[in-house]
Amino acid sequence: MLRVGVITASDKGSRGEREDLSGPALAKLVQEIDGAVVEYVVLPDDQTLIAAKMRQWADELSLDLILTTGGTGFSLRDVTPEATLAVADRMVPGIAEVMRMESLKVTPKAMLSRGVAVLRKQTLIINMPGSPKAVRECFAAIAPALPHGIQILKGEASECATTVKPG
Ligand code: MTE
Repeated sequence: MLRVGVITASDKGSRGEREDLSGPALAKLVQEIDGAVVEYVVLPDDQTLIAAKMRQWADELSLDLILTTGGTGFSLRDVTPEATLAVADRMVPGIAEVMRMESLKVTPKAMLSRGVAVLRKQTLIINMPGSPKAVRECFAAIAPALPHGIQILKGEASECATTVKPG
């Protein structure tokens, strides 16, 4: 089972003025990759708070995966990618590229998400936009590769090649 943390970045959500639908949507989606949400928080769009939570979950809890939703757009309050980059050891550009590529088939506004994916220690951190529809679309795009990537990160798999019988 993959141990997953979900951070919803939303000023209104953190004040209780808007129900968070994206976080619960992610909790359901991760079941498809044998994941379970063991940590969940709604935070204001505050770079320091978001980065601190990521550090805690990666360093102290060693979660396999942290998914964020919200705060990836152009508003001056949107700082989730900056918080994520601040805690990054290594970048995983392909994950964000694929999310935007597949999302562009649904909406041209997909290019407005500045979300990133990074590794901190043995935790994979992925930013998604802030709506249930967007998280469903983004998750569907990357789900097939996530378990293998996390296995490699955890040192539980080292072999990527699938066995092909010689012709
Ligand atoms: N990606 C997908 N798959 N589906 C969407 O509906 N919405 C876009 C974009 N990415 C969207 C999407 C919109 S309208 C915006 S403004 C940006 O994500 C940033 O969203 P955020 O600020 O909620 O993170």
